[in-house]
Amino acid sequence: MSKSPLARIAGTGLFTPSQSISNEELVEAYNAWVDKWNAANPDEEPKQHSSAEFIEKASGIKARFVLNKDGILDTDRMRPSLPQRTNDELSIMAEMGVTAARDAMKAADLQPADIDAVICAASNMQRAYPAMAVEIQNALGIDGYGFDMNVACASAAFGIQNAVGLIATGARRVLMVNPEICSAHLNFRDRDAHFIFGDVSTAVIVERAEGEPGPDSWEIIDTRLKTVFSNNIRNNFGFLNHTSDELDISAPDTDKLFKQEGRKVFKDVVPMVAELISGHLADNEIDPTTLKRMWLHQANLSMNQFIARKVLGRDASEEEAPVVLDTYANTSSSGSMIAFHRHREGIDIGEIGVISGFGAGYSAGSVIVRRAA
Ligand code: COA
Repeated sequence: MSKSPLARIAGTGLFTPSQSISNEELVEAYNAWVDKWNAANPDEEPKQHSSAEFIEKASGIKARFVLNKDGILDTDRMRPSLPQRTNDELSIMAEMGVTAARDAMKAADLQPADIDAVICAASNMQRAYPAMAVEIQNALGIDGYGFDMNVACASAAFGIQNAVGLIATGARRVLMVNPEICSAHLNFRDRDAHFIFGDVSTAVIVERAEGEPGPDSWEIIDTRLKTVFSNNIRNNFGFLNHTSDELDISAPDTDKLFKQEGRKVFKDVVPMVAELISGHLADNEIDPTTLKRMWLHQANLSMNQFIARKVLGRDASEEEAPVVLDTYANTSSSGSMIAFHRHREGIDIGEIGVISGFGAGYSAGSVIVRRAA
């Protein structure tokens, strides 16, 4: 634990859409769609209604922020309506990232000239190229370079490790953004999953740990990543769809949108993440009982309670393992970063916490941080 950290978090930012959908609103629309579908398909096995009580009990989610509510709740559409912008306009994913990035730069009192690189780390990119990170870099007026990376819900933890790597190779500061438009890859006709996701963007600035730390700085003590292949969370949308004749994203059971075996994911990922964090702490000679906070990926409340219990050896309080999924739902890579952004008060200088994202791949990352100022 004595090695001196190469990098620190200098500030974080958040963009939250202005529109939100409650479980009740979502279920009302889903059930109306089911009634229509069942009436139109009398020879098929009838689809079952969804339930707001089930959603909250099974996941802890009460509502989700989205970029466009009307399109999702329109039973003839069941997907957000996000009109295409011209190539001369800032694209929507870049706009979210830029808003969160400006928030982070303001918090850290930094200017574009202070930053050397931009990483856009998210579950889905709006297009193949140019990279979202390069568009965000341009919109902010940052010199240097940018690139995109995707490791699903673990993207932010992987992004932080990569930012530290860029610092090791000479960058002074790296802006890492996570714009997640999860409502665009969610199948709102799938009862098992229609409630899972929300839209948001987070941003974090990672800087070389030299000189006086800013007023809200967090040393990155160490990072650790892990991936294990699994088909239990999968989305087959991609550029090769164009070469086959099977693309129908309006089908209720399409595999060109998010699909998961939720129970299996839960069972596989809880031990994987608990082991990753526990081993990571042990190798850094950190006693888990001294951990002040765990900013975990926000997919499922009981999943987080299990992971925190395994790491700490006892139940974690809500202060120790903050929850944002009740109002944000699962925001993929942004979840752990929203928790870190909003719930890092009450930790003294020198005290330690862990940021951890996990999800499809499977993929998981652990970032041990210590309050520096
Ligand atoms: N409304 C009402 N009932 C529903 C429902 C809905 N929307 N969706 C499923 N059900 C029913 C199922 O039909 C099943 O009924 P049965 O017992 O009669 O067969 C029952 O509820 C349990 O379904 P199941 O899918 O096993 O629920 P679950 O307890 O596993 O909870 C998740 C579902 C998705 C909330 C949960 O599995 C989860 O969060 N897993 C981890 C997800 C995760 O971390 N993903 C990472 C993605 S980045």
